[in-house]
Parts: sequence; structure tokens; C-alpha cells
Amino acid sequence: MKILMVCLGNICRSPLAEGILQHKAKEKNLDWTVDSAGTGTWHIGLPPDERSIERARKYGLDISEQRARQFKVTDFDHFDKIYVMDASNYQNVMRLARSETDRAKVELILNELYPRQNRTVPDPYWNDDGFEQVYQMLAAACECIMEKYGAEGKL
Ligand code: 4NP
Repeated sequence: MKILMVCLGNICRSPLAEGILQHKAKEKNLDWTVDSAGTGTWHIGLPPDERSIERARKYGLDISEQRARQFKVTDFDHFDKIYVMDASNYQNVMRLARSETDRAKVELILNELYPRQNRTVPDPYWNDDGFEQVYQMLAAACECIMEKYGAEGKL
């Protein structure tokens, strides 16, 4: 599987999602590609937000080597699934989709945990207390993703 996690800045939410799912895939010896990107441009080239790095570290993950990049149209060709965090990311990514095949790859990540409820992962950038909640939501969603696709073997 090739999975891309997408948020706005690619410094808070999607780096955590990338780190969590990458770790799970490694644990299961799956040859997956897990990456992340942002729809915005402000933080390109920067490491994740210190609060996300700390939160990941608390749970034994090192995401400090990640660098933010912007989502690009060719990501539709390189990834099987594109998980977005909220409705705004969803709209921004869907706007770039060129076909029904592209559109079918895009999904709100929490729909894996709460099917069809269209819940969103809140942007924690302006809320220091939000990071733990975001981590827990993403960990639970990534567990569902692993249950769904992990059994398919080394795709
Ligand atoms: P993220 O959080 O989308 O989870 O990476 C944000 C990071 C930065 C900004 C907004 C959201 N910003 O406005 O700079």
C-alpha cells in the first residue's frame, strides 16, 4: 500500500499520522510507503511542529526528520489512498483531482474509524492542549487502516 496523509500545514496533524502508520507497517513487516503533505505552502521544508514531535516522542516515535512539502497533482498517481484531516483539506485535494479514479482515493481519515460520519481531526495549531486528542484520534484511525489493508500482505 502507498498511503499519503494530508493536512493544511504538514507540520501538526499529517506528520503524526505518517509517523504512526509507518511505525505500524514496520512492526508488521509490511513494505508500505507512508508519506504526508500539506495543501498550504507556509511551512515547506520545515520539520514538524515541536508539539507534534514531543507528542510522538512520548509514544516512542521519532518524526523529527520529516520535512513539510506541498500536496501535488502527481501524488494521485503515486498513492493508493489519500487521507485528509478535515473538510477544508478534502475540498482542496478534490479540487485538484483529474478523474473519478483520483477522487476515489481521497477519504477523511476518521471515516475509517467512524464510517460515513465525516468527522474531522481538529487543527491543533492554535491549541496547545489539542495535540494529545489529535494523537489519539490518529492512532485509532491508523489502527483501523492497518486492520483493513494490513491483511492484504505486502502490497
Ligand atoms: P496542520 O496544522 O495543518 O495540522 O499542519 C497547521 C499548521 C499551521 C497552520 C495551520 C494549521 N498555519 O496557519 O500556519
